[in-house]
Amino acid sequence: MARRIIIDCDPGQDDAVALLLAFASPELDVLGITTVGGNVPLQLTHRNARMMCDIADSKAPVFAGCDQPMRRPLRTAEYIHGETGIDGIDIFEPDTPLQSRHGVDFIIETLLAADDGSITLVPTGPLTNIGTVIEREPGVLPKIERIVLMGGAMREGGNRTPSAEFNILVDPEAADIVFRCGRPIVQMGLDVTHQVLSTRERIERIRALDNPVADAVAGMIGFFERYDMSKYSAPGAPLHDPCTVAFLIEPGLFTGKDCNVAVETQSDLTLGHTAVDFWHVTDRPRNVHWVYQVDSDGFYELLTERLARYGDVT
Ligand code: BDR
Ligand code: CA
Repeated sequence: MARRIIIDCDPGQDDAVALLLAFASPELDVLGITTVGGNVPLQLTHRNARMMCDIADSKAPVFAGCDQPMRRPLRTAEYIHGETGIDGIDIFEPDTPLQSRHGVDFIIETLLAADDGSITLVPTGPLTNIGTVIEREPGVLPKIERIVLMGGAMREGGNRTPSAEFNILVDPEAADIVFRCGRPIVQMGLDVTHQVLSTRERIERIRALDNPVADAVAGMIGFFERYDMSKYSAPGAPLHDPCTVAFLIEPGLFTGKDCNVAVETQSDLTLGHTAVDFWHVTDRPRNVHWVYQVDSDGFYELLTERLARYGDVT
């Protein structure tokens, strides 16, 4: 039976690729997509998610969640993603409707109606929606099978400040609630996502699939990679968010370790830092499966093979 998931995202080119990978994967049943203010404001993240549903012909319902972090103002990242959040493709007004329910209500109601341990949450943006769900209705916790999220950094350091990765920095209080929630967490931080680089060869293989979804992916990555290539002198962009979905499809591609992860919520200097107790130098509980390595060729094989499936649809 397909794994039932809710993707909570802020598209973002890499969030968009994560959605397209999930839609093409029969192992996953996308119950809904909730969006959050993050890379760009909320009205763009839900529009972008709905565009992906149109492009992939997915019927997954899209909900708008929180437009501001739980306790502080939103900071966005147009300098990476462009003004639209998904620069690199033509923007259009999608047919996929925005659902009237708030994203947080959708998650709470879906979880409360589910069997224990039966739904996986896949957050790829700031953790505002998930933190709000847990704060408002802790009774949902037993329903969550796992939370597989993108955020944080250990060896790589931060990408938004010297200490912090963007998703955690934007809403550290929400991240704190999530890390302390007691449900199993799989965390894809920059240590692993910086290994899945969109080299020229990899993108040309995707472009050569010559179907509209693959073209959209190649177009979006083509824009997205400019920033990281100049910042890190890297051969391409890290596809951060699709690591979460790839893990659910093919966990054997990834290597990780159970650790304590805690987040800094006070310091001006290190706000949003994820303190990963990789060597178990404290007795804090091992609340996270911290993923630190990936077979990057295998990851791109998987992504390319799944995007090829869109060409089979006539
Ligand atoms: C994360 O921040 C965003 O820019 C990306 O979409 C990703 O989720 C990487 O730090
Ligand atoms: Ca994201």
